[in-house]
Amino acid sequence: MSKIATLEFDGKKYEFPVTVGTEDEIGIDIKKLRGEAGLITLDPGYKNTGSCESAITFLDGEKGILRYRGYAIEDLAEKADFLEVAYLLIFGELPNKEKLEKFTHDIKEQSQVDEEMKKILDGFPKSAHPMGVLSSLTSALIAFNPSSVDVSSEQDMYNAIVKILGKFPVLAAWTLRKKHSLPLNYGDDTLGYVENLHKMMFEKPGKTYKVDKAVIDALDKLLILHADHEQNCSTSTVRMVGSSHAGLFASISAGISALWGPLHGGANQAVIEMLERIKEDGGDTHKFMEKAKDKEDPFRLMGFGHRVYKNFDPRAKIIKKSADEVLGKLGVEDPVLDIAKGLEKKALEDDYFVKRKLYPNVDFYSGIIYRALGIPVEMFTVMFALGRLPGWIAQWREMRLKKEPIGRPRQIYIGENLRDFKPLGSR
Ligand code: CMC
Repeated sequence: MSKIATLEFDGKKYEFPVTVGTEDEIGIDIKKLRGEAGLITLDPGYKNTGSCESAITFLDGEKGILRYRGYAIEDLAEKADFLEVAYLLIFGELPNKEKLEKFTHDIKEQSQVDEEMKKILDGFPKSAHPMGVLSSLTSALIAFNPSSVDVSSEQDMYNAIVKILGKFPVLAAWTLRKKHSLPLNYGDDTLGYVENLHKMMFEKPGKTYKVDKAVIDALDKLLILHADHEQNCSTSTVRMVGSSHAGLFASISAGISALWGPLHGGANQAVIEMLERIKEDGGDTHKFMEKAKDKEDPFRLMGFGHRVYKNFDPRAKIIKKSADEVLGKLGVEDPVLDIAKGLEKKALEDDYFVKRKLYPNVDFYSGIIYRALGIPVEMFTVMFALGRLPGWIAQWREMRLKKEPIGRPRQIYIGENLRDFKPLGSR
């Protein structure tokens, strides 16, 4: 039997249908609220607003559960590779061998970028942050692939999807190479997606490219852990921009900008910078904990807290274990790993953090692994974007296939009432 929610306002009762998800999450469908009762809901930061029904990712913040299309993140991180997970997120099922081969082939076919794009990249100063460059290049890609904007069939959509999956790693690698004055290169068709990305980022002119398998495995796992996270800030941005039918690449470009911020994906860079600062300051974690708790001080413990996870972030658990393994395998000793562990221990015992249910999030330990893999700090958030790309695509595709209406929230106006205009001379 379908459930009904009743709202009483100004002595009148209104009934609204209730939607129940497959994991028993309940949402009141308030589409008719304004039409019937003249009311809107007010929820800055959308802390309690469901923007869509989605079949892609399930997460339970209280229990620390994360699943892509019904598969536990722990299983996928351990047993699948990044392109399999990308296929799963986008198309809903794990691919069989033939489907994965075709998908991989179609992506490889699209891994060239128009040479003219190099001129655009050339216009950026070397000091430019890679996230800004990547967002701009992704947007510029539209000019060279105009057919990717108008997606009137699933085939059009598929073509746009394999194009962005093919070209995005090239753009990401080029942002790094430009910063480090290395020649812009292309990948190698014989390598897997992640190894190819790594090669494009790190191969040196005149040197044979070689990489430890442990590096590629660790990178693959990190990309999987970041691949989707339901309606977070950047994904909501992708869906919002896509809802105006601006096209996949424009939507992704906007998502990259949203991800850049330190409260979202930019936290991975901010965490390492914070840990370095603590180390240089003598390693006094207590002092920084006190700063984070002081409401007069803008300092926050980066990599801690999450809008949805109020128990633990399952990605952080996997990454913490992985950090120990990767650093061990590669023989890397990083003093900030000990500082991070000390900080975590203190925070988990501290009243302020316990009361507010603040736990380490995905970004707390990821930077330590990226650094051990030789990835420069300013590229950390780009790595997050590379991982999140399949999630953004899946969410955009779902939104377009469901023919969702353009995103357009309402507001409660709190400004001036009607005023008489005064000419410039009399103000
Ligand atoms: N350090 C100190 N205090 C914190 C922190 C922190 N990292 N995070 C939250 N708080 C406090 C906050 O001041 C507030 O206290 P009070 O109730 O006394 O006003 C309370 O905890 C609730 O915080 P909030 O800002 O209302 O929570 P939110 O859901 O709006 O923000 C967050 C979530 C992730 C933006 C926030 O926890 C934060 O800024 N964390 C640090 C940045 C970070 O690590 N971001 C990465 C998120 S995970 C990767 C991703 O998917 O983007």
